[in-house]
Amino acid sequence: MELIIDSADVAQIKALKELCTVAGVTTNPTILTKSGREATEVIQDLIDILDEDQKLFIQVVKTDYEGIMEEAKKISQLRPKNMYVKIPVTHDGLKAIKECKKLGIHTLATAIYTAEQAFIAAANGADYLAPYVNRMCNYGDGVETTKDLIEMLRIHNMPAKVVAASFKNTYQVHELIKAGIPAVTVPCDVLFNMINHPATTIAVGEFTMNWQKAYNRKELFK
Ligand code: E4P
Repeated sequence: MELIIDSADVAQIKALKELCTVAGVTTNPTILTKSGREATEVIQDLIDILDEDQKLFIQVVKTDYEGIMEEAKKISQLRPKNMYVKIPVTHDGLKAIKECKKLGIHTLATAIYTAEQAFIAAANGADYLAPYVNRMCNYGDGVETTKDLIEMLRIHNMPAKVVAASFKNTYQVHELIKAGIPAVTVPCDVLFNMINHPATTIAVGEFTMNWQKAYNRKELFK
């Protein structure tokens, strides 16, 4: 399974890259605005901190077919490899995904709220499909719909990878990992919550305290 970071926070991505085996970074226009900096500079920083084999996903901002294609071509050239263009599954977006497939531009179909939207994007040649798990919970069960999608792609032998997105808690991630999701993109706060547990800190404190009490030193070896 690919673990991807859903953020453009360079400092946090750097820290999480050290802690976890990360397959890449996803962003969207809203995520990029959160830095308070010029988006193109943030994108360059992301390119600089990622290893060559880690994927970077940048979303188009234009919404008409020609605009999407123009931005998709530019995004795809930002790095020699592992560069993906995120395209929302609107009418223009679906047309663009099909055209990108013909041109060899890697895409991630985004802003997906139903398994059917994802299935159509997969048939158009999207490499990744991003169901918005948490947001889908406003309309039904985002986790269950994403599980259905994985099953639909398996039955029809379609190569597109589901990268579950829009997580707000570790439970949603847990359920989809358990269901065999091929990829998840997780915001930094949720990822830190997956890693940290107060009881772990307490347990380590107890080990240190008991050791010091018994041996009057902090190290294993004298
Ligand atoms: C990632 O690909 C999506 O753009 C992102 O997960 C959406 O998250 P949000 O629902 O928190 O905006």
